[in-house]
Amino acid sequence: MPHSLTAARSGALSGTARVPGDKSISHRALILGALSTGRTRIEGLLEAEDVLATARAVEALGAGLRRENSTIEVLGQGVGGLRAPRCALDFGNSGTGSRLMLGAVAGHDMAAEFTGDASLRRRPMGRVLAPLEKMGLAREEGSGDTFPLTVTGTSDLVPIRYEMPMASAQVKSAVLLAGLHAPGRTTIVEPAAARDHTERMLAHFGAEIAIEDLGGGGRAVTVRGDAELAGRPVTVPGDPSSAAFVIAAALITPGSELVIENMLMNPTRIGFLETARAMGASIEILDLRAEGGEPVADLKVKASELKGVTVPPERAPSMIDEYPILAVLAAFAAGDTRMRGLSELRVKESDRLAATAAGLAALGVEVAIEGDDLIVSGRGAGGVPGGGLVRTELDHRIAMAFLIAGLASEAPVSIDDTTMIATSFPNFVQLMTGLGADFR
Ligand code: S3P
Repeated sequence: MPHSLTAARSGALSGTARVPGDKSISHRALILGALSTGRTRIEGLLEAEDVLATARAVEALGAGLRRENSTIEVLGQGVGGLRAPRCALDFGNSGTGSRLMLGAVAGHDMAAEFTGDASLRRRPMGRVLAPLEKMGLAREEGSGDTFPLTVTGTSDLVPIRYEMPMASAQVKSAVLLAGLHAPGRTTIVEPAAARDHTERMLAHFGAEIAIEDLGGGGRAVTVRGDAELAGRPVTVPGDPSSAAFVIAAALITPGSELVIENMLMNPTRIGFLETARAMGASIEILDLRAEGGEPVADLKVKASELKGVTVPPERAPSMIDEYPILAVLAAFAAGDTRMRGLSELRVKESDRLAATAAGLAALGVEVAIEGDDLIVSGRGAGGVPGGGLVRTELDHRIAMAFLIAGLASEAPVSIDDTTMIATSFPNFVQLMTGLGADFR
């Protein structure tokens, strides 16, 4: 049942918040844990629908999962040790879980059916299947590029060198995970650096990884096959993609001052911070430190007068999930913001380019899509009319972005459905309300 919610103009937000664990790292910890021998203890795992779907898949493939207080323990099966699932693997809304798992399953002599919700069943899987099929994965005859899809893996995978046409961390990760099973070395070439959690975590679990800088942002990542992974402890830091909503709320709600603790500061993930600061945001980085192989920090954010900027296309991979909330920030900035090179947004949980533009238009903000660029005509602080009903299109980030917009718009903003927020940020409404947000 869809559940609508309205956000109204709020007083200053204040307090200290910790956002839930990083979604990308959480999926990877479960999958690498399953492909390792021994135990992987995960601290701070994101317990949201997307990651729970991966956890169920990992169990269906034979790995054990156990909870001990706040720790989740994976009892791994080793590289090549997964068993055939008895029923379809249902990944719900999650592109990441499903695409990474296609790579993990590829090196096993078994068939597995992959499926998901209406959003996931519309998303392109050809981008992952193309390299995996070169390695030896077979898809059931007659099936297309979308779920439901049955694939058959093989223990005789062939190592490849593959040049990805887009900077996708999911495609990169699927190929690297399959490469663990192939003899020799498997290389994935990325045109720009996509998030690098898979290669970091593979090295942490004992795989041999080599990274070559190709200049111009491109990189070649190589994994040595016939690998053996050993279960390792993983600490999951706060998700910067979730934190972006809290940061934006503080920036646009007059008088606000918030501290966000323990946020992941991996350079491949913080394009939003860089952009917000260029717009004039007051964001102080406190206590930058290393935890569990990833940089983390606390942030102090104060309400700020923002100005429009141009966001270059090469920054897109480091903030790919943050464009809906950046577009909201841009609406509250003075002057135009041009976000360039957003073609990948068309194949996210929704067509995010269209959904973001439609949402802003519903709030009375002038917005245009020109080719792959999104241009928002900022109304300045306090100048966003609001008052519309935003269609969330099964997309958690559209839902959260427009609830945040309502906190500083003239008239309240409603969204048609909050259900999908549980895929990445289950306590979003509670956390924001605790900081002073007026949600009704
Ligand atoms: C993710 C990669 C990105 C991102 C997604 C998470 C990951 O997708 O949008 O939310 O964890 O690897 P693409 O690989 O399609 O760019």
